[in-house]
Amino acid sequence: MTIRRVTADDRLTTSFPLAAYAFESSPLSAARIDEFRDYLPYQEGNRTLIAEESGATLAAVSAIPMRQNLRGVVLPMAGVAGVATHPLARRQGHVRTLLHQLLDEMRDEGHSLSALYPFRPSFYARFGYTGLPKPRRVTFTPANLGSLLRVDLPGEVSWERIAAGYPAWRAFTERNLQERHGFSIFPDYRAVGMRDRDEYWLITARVAGEVTGAVTYRIDEHGGTLHGNELLVADPLARALLLQFFARHVDQIDRITLQVPPDELPELWLTDLDVHVEARTAVPGSSAPMARLLSLDALRGLPAGPGRVRVELTGDRWLAGTHLLDGTTGALELVGDTADRTPTATLTAAGLSALAYGVLDPAELPLRGLGEVPVDAAAELRGIFPRRVPYLFADF
Ligand SMILES: CC(C)(COP(=O)(O)OP(=O)(O)OC[C@H]1O[C@@H](n2cnc3c(N)ncnc32)[C@H](O)[C@@H]1OP(=O)(O)O)[C@@H](O)C(=O)NCCC(=O)NCCS
Repeated sequence: MTIRRVTADDRLTTSFPLAAYAFESSPLSAARIDEFRDYLPYQEGNRTLIAEESGATLAAVSAIPMRQNLRGVVLPMAGVAGVATHPLARRQGHVRTLLHQLLDEMRDEGHSLSALYPFRPSFYARFGYTGLPKPRRVTFTPANLGSLLRVDLPGEVSWERIAAGYPAWRAFTERNLQERHGFSIFPDYRAVGMRDRDEYWLITARVAGEVTGAVTYRIDEHGGTLHGNELLVADPLARALLLQFFARHVDQIDRITLQVPPDELPELWLTDLDVHVEARTAVPGSSAPMARLLSLDALRGLPAGPGRVRVELTGDRWLAGTHLLDGTTGALELVGDTADRTPTATLTAAGLSALAYGVLDPAELPLRGLGEVPVDAAAELRGIFPRRVPYLFADF
């Protein structure tokens, strides 16, 4: 078995058929296979590795060079996608070998974070990934938004197809990347797929000319459902402007559904708003995302609370050694080991990642098999890494 990087047209006969078998309805029609070529531009900068033997592709993995906000700092992130093994070659260690090499290479290129959507979280937990919250889907009827129709809001909403509004949409996702913990976006060559497919309407809220909110959506039929994608708002006024736009659909559609960040509380948006808010996870088709630190460089200089703790990292290919984490200046410093009496925790890569992303309390780590954390070390770690709710946004 050999490992090889594939690019351009080479993907059509190697990684694409495996991914199609794994993720689409099959056998594929000839017409569907003909469409493969249309996807090539959106994969152009991905790093795709395959395992092959006697000219046959046994397994494939890809990484998308993305960016992600970790506690206010934007860092290069490797988005892992297209993980698939030939049905006759599964359980032979091919994906393990490929993922190791893929993440080695992405890390060497400076990607200090990685994220993915797992088919089964326990599979990737063994590679050091920790679970992130799943965005919520909120459903309500436009009739409940009636109170907004009479309000005079100081801002405007524009309405256009996504192909026309794409530059404003992309710029607003860039702004969210800078401002929102956990937020990640695609490189340009991948992001433009949404513009090129042109399958959605885009509405943007603007205040004094500046975009402060945006959402893309489609409508299935008269009297049907308005299917919204991610509701992105910088403040309550932007949200009110977008909901007011939806309120004007009261005589056209029955229901509105939108995806919202995991920390959004739609039941507080308006009085007398009947809402259903849902996050459902299921193996293999409906997963919450996962993420991990690939390098301790991600932690250097990160905004941190007060705390000083020694961490011994264990059981991981990419994070190892003993380090002193010091958050007393407000910017996290990593010092080589010292022989003082600082409290010490032993952490797995997933355990440290869970703290950095703000998704678990240090006291939860021993319960989850992610480390040994004495009470004094837990207090320091809690100080350094206050809980946060990351919103990954990009879906891949
Ligand atoms: C899931 C899939 C990619 C695994 O590939 P693979 O080449 O069989 O995986 P490996 O043999 O390298 O397995 C790595 C480890 O995970 C274990 N593993 C494999 N499949 C697993 C599963 N479904 N659940 C839990 N553990 C699993 C293996 O036993 C192995 O453990 P070991 O290192 O202790 O021996 C493959 O079965 C597949 O293509 N499935 C359909 C597509 C899919 O779901 N892709 C994942 C998208 S995120």
